[in-house]
Amino acid sequence: MTEQDPIAQTLSNMDRGCFITVEGIEGVGKTTNIEFIRQYLSGFNIPLVVTREPGGTGIAERIREILLDHDQETLADDTELLLVFAARAQHLNRLIIPALARKEWVVCDRFTDATYAYQGGGRGLSVDMISQLENSVQGDLRPDMTFILDVPVELGMSRVKNRGQLDRFEQEQHDFFERVRQTYLMRAQASPKHYRVIDASLSLPEVQKSLENALSLLLVSRGIK
Ligand code: TMP
Repeated sequence: MTEQDPIAQTLSNMDRGCFITVEGIEGVGKTTNIEFIRQYLSGFNIPLVVTREPGGTGIAERIREILLDHDQETLADDTELLLVFAARAQHLNRLIIPALARKEWVVCDRFTDATYAYQGGGRGLSVDMISQLENSVQGDLRPDMTFILDVPVELGMSRVKNRGQLDRFEQEQHDFFERVRQTYLMRAQASPKHYRVIDASLSLPEVQKSLENALSLLLVSRGIK
């Protein structure tokens, strides 16, 4: 999204759909809980798009394969960062922004917080560079609400190991995920209005009760409930 992009220009000044993102380290239960969010919002007849990053469109999914697959040639950290934002630019311009402009709600499995957490916290890349790319690709667009599903690293990793073959990120070590987790928590602490940290080590009904409470407040704030 650039200053010249007409959709971006209109979007920042219009009443658009709500943009919700769901984050966390591997093995926090994002898939199950995003399905819960989808069902809960559908109960209010909210037009909804559920999508994911990296990915969400045909081209962005192809970039995802490069990011997640193992290759004989190792991916340089800078390449990884630029590919994440290349996929995001495509996803935003072709799916997220048009949906929000149609006043649909968008629920996205990971977004730019994941870049701060994985490329910034995990890989140690410059936060300034991430922030510059964020501003250039997204303009003013930021999620309205980000749920951070939080579990201790040991628990997340043990859940992932039961899934079978590990992708390029899942094979990282404990310290990497500890930095990722701490980055998420610091970001939430810095901006409590836009984040809810959910203790995802609790039972599923307890986790979903927390999600429901937060979603309910969001619906009230939007005049839907
Ligand atoms: P997931 O679909 O299992 O969440 O896998 C996506 C992986 O991509 C996950 O390990 C985190 C990683 N990722 C980044 O490193 N940076 C990003 O900006 C995004 C969106 C994901």
